[in-house]
Amino acid sequence: MGMTVLIVGGGGREHAIATSVSKSKRVSKIYATPGNAGIAAIAECVDIKAMEFEKIADFAVEKSVDLVIVGPDDPLVGGIVDVLEARGLRVFGPRKNAAILEGSKAFSKDLMKKYNIPTAAYETFDNAEDALKYLETAPMPIVLKADGLALGKGVLICNTLEEAKAGVGEIMLDKKFGTAGNRLVIEEFMTGREVSVLSFVDGNTIKTMSSAQDHKRAKDNDEGLNTGGMGNFSPSPFYTEEVDKFCKENIYQRTVDAMKAEGREFKGVIFFGLMLTPKGPRVLEYNARFGDPEAQVVLTRMESDIIDVVDACIDGKLADIDLKFADNAAVCVVLASDGYPLSYEKGFEITGLENFEGKDDYYCFHAGTKFNEAGKIVTNGGRVLGVTATGATLKEARAKAYEATKWVSFANKYMRTDIGKAIEEV
Ligand code: AMP
Ligand code: GLY
Repeated sequence: MGMTVLIVGGGGREHAIATSVSKSKRVSKIYATPGNAGIAAIAECVDIKAMEFEKIADFAVEKSVDLVIVGPDDPLVGGIVDVLEARGLRVFGPRKNAAILEGSKAFSKDLMKKYNIPTAAYETFDNAEDALKYLETAPMPIVLKADGLALGKGVLICNTLEEAKAGVGEIMLDKKFGTAGNRLVIEEFMTGREVSVLSFVDGNTIKTMSSAQDHKRAKDNDEGLNTGGMGNFSPSPFYTEEVDKFCKENIYQRTVDAMKAEGREFKGVIFFGLMLTPKGPRVLEYNARFGDPEAQVVLTRMESDIIDVVDACIDGKLADIDLKFADNAAVCVVLASDGYPLSYEKGFEITGLENFEGKDDYYCFHAGTKFNEAGKIVTNGGRVLGVTATGATLKEARAKAYEATKWVSFANKYMRTDIGKAIEEV
């Protein structure tokens, strides 16, 4: 008998994780809570939400689950790993005291300052009055960040003092992002290309995955509102050997060592959001999990068995793993509901999904889908599908991914047409 694995979450990232898990020879059964209509093709989906820790624990114990993999940030920051471990379960992901690396921007900034990890200069504020006073003499543009989780939307880039003052009001007084805005980080504005580097961490050892570049804005040419991510590509040609060397010496291991020194041993995935500034790479943010849609392009290219890697992280044996990626490229184009990230309609039937069946280098990861009462797959979120293709080069992967976006249809389908266009500049 192979292992039984439970995946917590129900977006495109979790579909990508489930796909990798399903390729492992060591696994015979996969559950997902709650999963989605795409995950349902490879896992048994159970209608328990990611924040219902005790219900997930009860279910996992009942089904003798051997391994739980947690996808999203909310349950990790909320302490799901501690709850499941207390019930004797084996879990991949950081405990609550380590997930704070993503859960509090003030914490992560203080950590970087204390351990000399390159990042933007900043100040932290607990009340609006002090923040407003500080802004009077601060250089513009400036960046405001709500301390807590805010669906990737709690960051405001302000060009003028007026905008910045209004931003402080929204975050700290109007509580636009809820309690995430009880504290505020005000940060130096930096310029440069952004790169995402995901890594596996076992508490001591860190092994990075291949790099990726996200496209966070809703519209072409990086216009429109910030979203969870409208598509991406891997590897990033801008993540050169020189950049990698700098980050290895100044960022990656130093972060893991810092967390350990603080008594917050980190096991799981650390996602480094980097900006390649004229002064060198700087950390924009940490996430304590796989990115979404970064997982779709990175895991698709991973050759190592994900279960071997995850096991090694939990057991502190990551040093023994030879983490391998294919020498190819992947591009993911998100098909969203028009109107995302603000308001959009759901419940439209999706057709053409069968076109992806039996094709090794094309994937249609489901982000927001479900079965309706008639058993049809319908849209159920802002980001609906992550159409992903691999190819020998980024150019080939990009052409294939865009071709495949035509294979599926649903009402109000919306996508960016310039995902991966930056590679043409190289
Ligand atoms: P974060 O959630 O911290 O990654 O911020 C979201 C986005 O805001 C980043 O992907 C950047 O595009 C932008 N951003 C964050 N911090 C800065 C900064 N200090 N300077 C310029 N842009 C930033
Ligand atoms: N794609 C960015 C994130 O997962 O946070």
